[in-house]
Amino acid sequence: MTNRGVSLFLVLACIFVSTIASAKEKGNHHLPAVHVINALPKNSEPMDLQCDGEKILNAGEDYQWTVEENKLVYCEAFWGKLFASWHGFQPRRDVGHRAVYWLVKDTGFFLSWDNRSWVRKHLWETE
Ligand SMILES: *[C@@H]1O[C@H](CO)[C@@H](O)[C@H](O)[C@H]1NC(C)=O
Repeated sequence: MTNRGVSLFLVLACIFVSTIASAKEKGNHHLPAVHVINALPKNSEPMDLQCDGEKILNAGEDYQWTVEENKLVYCEAFWGKLFASWHGFQPRRDVGHRAVYWLVKDTGFFLSWDNRSWVRKHLWETE
């Protein structure tokens, strides 16, 4: 092979190897899950959630989906005359956690990484 041929071969080999490596990494990696749990009063009207597309959540329901670890996820919720917007997943805050839980109550939005200890991060707003 000529020098040019060797260089071209090496470049292609590198691209091939790195493509395989990144595909493998994706496959083995556990993507974090985000949960939004509607803990609003029972029998109150459902909440309209917009994070990962639109979702109508009844009281007691837990909606979960997986997210990319390095992408900000913007969420909005509407409940009667109230609304809120927040970061459902925020890489700087949440990276390294397998799951992010949001407990939505009439008193606000509570964050947990273990579904046990909760910290209120946001309040409902009125229009
Ligand atoms: C979170 O905790 C609640 C209350 O203990 C439990 O009912 C629920 O199944 C848990 N959810 C997950 C995803 O572990």
